[in-house]
Amino acid sequence: MNAASMDEKDVLKKYKEEFYLPDYLYYEANGLGPMSRRSEATLNRVAEEWKNLLVAGWFAGEVPWFYYPERIAAMEEELVGAKEKELIINGTTTTNIHSVLAAFYKPWGKRTKILCDSQIFSSDRYAVEAQIRLKGQDPDDDLILAGIGNPIISEDEIIDWMSEEVALIFLPSVVHSTGQLLDMERLAAEAAKRGIPIGFDLSHSAGVVPCKLHDWGVDFAVWCNYKYLNGGLGCPSTIFIHEKNFDVPVAMPGWHGYVKDLQFRKLPHFEAERGAGGWQHGSPLILNIAPLEGALDMVREAGIDAIRKKSLAMTGYFMELIDEKLAKLGVEILTPREDDRRGGHVTILHVAASEITDFLDSGSRITDELKSAVREKMASGKPAGKDDQVRISFSPLYFSFEDVYMTAQNLEQLLGD
Ligand SMILES: Cc1ncc(COP(=O)(O)O)c(C=O)c1O
Repeated sequence: MNAASMDEKDVLKKYKEEFYLPDYLYYEANGLGPMSRRSEATLNRVAEEWKNLLVAGWFAGEVPWFYYPERIAAMEEELVGAKEKELIINGTTTTNIHSVLAAFYKPWGKRTKILCDSQIFSSDRYAVEAQIRLKGQDPDDDLILAGIGNPIISEDEIIDWMSEEVALIFLPSVVHSTGQLLDMERLAAEAAKRGIPIGFDLSHSAGVVPCKLHDWGVDFAVWCNYKYLNGGLGCPSTIFIHEKNFDVPVAMPGWHGYVKDLQFRKLPHFEAERGAGGWQHGSPLILNIAPLEGALDMVREAGIDAIRKKSLAMTGYFMELIDEKLAKLGVEILTPREDDRRGGHVTILHVAASEITDFLDSGSRITDELKSAVREKMASGKPAGKDDQVRISFSPLYFSFEDVYMTAQNLEQLLGD
């Protein structure tokens, strides 16, 4: 099927008009999603509430600010398969990682290690290592990075590492560098068999790949809301705490995690609200959550299954175009090709990776300088190294199949004669 006929059948095409997009193709859905009119509307509404209601907004806002993190988090339940009270919006992904690790990592006896992946995102790693140190352990001994030496990580290898020395497992859903989707269900089941708590960072899947956190028995999860979910700059992160863990003591409490009805009494000893709500720290970042309300309204209306279906069709189509037009120009696909092993972005390898990234980031305009830099690298005859990666993300809400075709065509022009 060609791009035009796929666009004709696309049930999500109407959403593109709702976004403020630049006049070039924007590939950063896995970095910072764009603003939509619905996000602008909810942001403006909350800003007006601040202007007009001041402190009364806590209870008189259209969605009262007091319940805002709970209510907006609840809008994500169906996207990740969470039950009531299992989600809360709070802080940044990094602070939330600290918070969940502080609570779920309990080194004891010979169970002292945290099992992560070799591609772990920088901030996640800093948090993991810091939490290991805070518990009096040494990251050199107690951090396992599965999959060293191969950018695509095998679940079998991760499972082989799940020994009696492992106190906690913390993995990504989609590996940020390669776009590989890990089999969370299988990993969670294997961890449960061995009695090891397991958590995931869903930053690169939330809003583009559905999952079933509750049914799969995942202990906890965190994710960014400003990538595929388009919650905007500085949008706080979401925490998932499985219902079975509602009695796990909150390790980094703050007054907004207090039993909801008593919170403003400012009582001396912390008592957590039951559920993920208890994991809030200080005052919720209401103005930063506000754009997410509109963005989630759109994602829910579009439907996460339809989003995933289109995402797979787009990345699959792009891979076909690479095989057809770009493989002969030295482009290799790093992301796994199987539908159930890839997320929303495709990572390619090319000797001129940094020039390709500049090209895509700057609106796919070819300059003489860029072209000669590409030529020089390609003429060197060197193969692409494992770090010569380019990540290309097509958001199903604002990309058409024609856009995907254009991407391949633009790259062909840049890399060809
Ligand atoms: C996988 C992953 N984890 C964590 C973060 C950090 O998120 P934050 O800046 O909200 O702490 C990012 C940001 O891009 C990310 O991609």
